[in-house]
Amino acid sequence: MTAQPAQTVRSGMTRGAAMVEGEFLFTESDFRKIAAMVHGDAGIALPETKATLVYSRLAKRLRALGIASFNDYCALVAGHDGVDERQKMLAALTTNVTRFFREPHHFEHLRDQLLPKLLAGARAGGRVRIWSAACSSGQEPYSIAMTVLAAAPDIASLDLKILATDIDPNVVREAREAVYSNSLLAGMPEEHRRRYVLPVAGRAGYSRIADEARALITFNELNLIGDWPMKGRFDAIFCRNVAIYFDDDTQARLWNRFAGLMPLEGRLYIGHSERVAGPAAQHLTPDGITAYRLTSMPREAAR
Ligand SMILES: C[S@@+](CC[C@H](N)C(=O)[O-])C[C@H]1O[C@@H](n2cnc3c(N)ncnc32)[C@H](O)[C@@H]1O
Repeated sequence: MTAQPAQTVRSGMTRGAAMVEGEFLFTESDFRKIAAMVHGDAGIALPETKATLVYSRLAKRLRALGIASFNDYCALVAGHDGVDERQKMLAALTTNVTRFFREPHHFEHLRDQLLPKLLAGARAGGRVRIWSAACSSGQEPYSIAMTVLAAAPDIASLDLKILATDIDPNVVREAREAVYSNSLLAGMPEEHRRRYVLPVAGRAGYSRIADEARALITFNELNLIGDWPMKGRFDAIFCRNVAIYFDDDTQARLWNRFAGLMPLEGRLYIGHSERVAGPAAQHLTPDGITAYRLTSMPREAAR
């Protein structure tokens, strides 16, 4: 979640009183219902300190739908007719902030510590799989793809694939399109921009990621707290800046599921303010800045 705008949050309110001052009545009971839905759907924990953020992000939805109160909005998203709106609510309450080569030490680690061995294995006929879990609008998986391409000019002859997933269908669509404003592309290392970014005809100020990078990636919608259809193991998993929104139990379960989906020596890259805790910490050994190496296999793969 991003920073909250300065607005009044009243604590200890009686049921029915406004929790946040504003155009629409927003009670503690409304907040609790929304927080329970978001936790149940996506694993995201919304403490009461996020009340003003919830109000300001969802007030736009109420306005767009012509709904008069949060009570009515809660009834809509809780019912059968509100399935689409519930997805919009979730999208409004999650943050998709990302950028190319964010936390660049992970791409350097991938390039220097992991890829030499993985590419040697692929050249000997093996397969390499990398997962960008919670990929947002694609900057993370494209950064992985560019790192791989720069290290493997023979990529076309290798079995190396990147899976990129996110719960939000809108960002997955954007990621697939691979078109970004030039200002978003500006922070990327110059050598990658020169090789893998192309102007888009008829759209001044926008560029597209080159087909050779796009071809390495499969984009899909996937909820990290739901079922995972993937069966094979991932040599590297990037799951950055999403677990921070989950409660401790949900995080611990996620790390465990990742550990169950990696081969020995697989790497897990997580966000700068996250850390692996719980049972998975016995198997995932720190290996650089917010990077972990699978040093023993969990007895039971927790899928
Ligand atoms: C802050 S972005 C992180 C993007 C990228 N990993 C990075 O570090 O730059 C968080 C992403 O997590 C996604 N997300 C939130 N809850 C999720 C869940 N339960 N399953 C999958 N993705 C989720 C959001 O839609 C959002 O795109």
